[in-house]
Amino acid sequence: MTDFLRLAADIAREAGDMLLAKRTARPEAIETKSSRTDVVTALDRASEELIRQRVGAERPHDAFLGEEEGETAGAETGEGRVRWIVDPIDGTVNFMYGLPDWAVSIAVEVDGEVVAGVVNVPARGELYAAAKGGGAELLREGVAAERLRCTAGVPLAEALIATGFGYLPERRAVQAEVLTRVLPVVRDIRRGGSCAVDLCSVAAGRVDGYYERGPQIWDFAAGGLIAVEAGARIGGLNGRPQSRKLTLCAAPGLFQDLHDLLVPLNPERDL
Ligand code: IPD
Ligand code: CA
Ligand code: CA
Repeated sequence: MTDFLRLAADIAREAGDMLLAKRTARPEAIETKSSRTDVVTALDRASEELIRQRVGAERPHDAFLGEEEGETAGAETGEGRVRWIVDPIDGTVNFMYGLPDWAVSIAVEVDGEVVAGVVNVPARGELYAAAKGGGAELLREGVAAERLRCTAGVPLAEALIATGFGYLPERRAVQAEVLTRVLPVVRDIRRGGSCAVDLCSVAAGRVDGYYERGPQIWDFAAGGLIAVEAGARIGGLNGRPQSRKLTLCAAPGLFQDLHDLLVPLNPERDL
């Protein structure tokens, strides 16, 4: 493990343990963000605070981007521009309802490139980790580390595809429309509720592919590296990089098939 990966993993574990210990039967939303379905709990904030403090203590000069508190600038050092990209809970709705697919997602970027990514899924006892060029692993307590490989050679008609929906009705209406054209031509669809976990599921071969309009950099930075290090391709449409417009991830052949299915459906729009 690289130093960045080790530190990211330690901090993601600490945040995950805190969340498991403090989670009540039905955590309440303390605020809504983009719409009444886009919720934040006190523990989203507490998780980000813990991560900010731990990163700040170890790496006081690094920049930090967290979903809840936004961007804090870093200082120039000899190491390049280091930025931590954090979703303190990805899958807050699952977290509230007691479903296991929620994660602490931490990525470390150097000069604009993600070099380490950790997705800790505490309720499943799973920690996904990757360093650029070093492969991706699933770590579980008491079990040997498992090298991750995405599926390969799966035709679209046999592909299990994960996707997700945004929080705005005008986006969801289009996402539902696009889905009516995807669902009939694939094996099935999964809506797991966490982009970071979905990308790790691609890495682990638990789904064959993933696409979604709307995920932000803190949703896909860590999971995207993990998927790529497991052999997947991540990107947007028409050669663009993954972004809020659209993020697509699958083994290279399936990526192309899914891409070609999606392009004419014009999925990068809202009503
Ligand atoms: C959300 C989850 C969800 C995805 C949404 C994200 P949050 O993140 O990743 O799966 O469909 O686009 O916003 O709000 O739980 O951090
Ligand atoms: Ca998120
Ligand atoms: Ca979040």
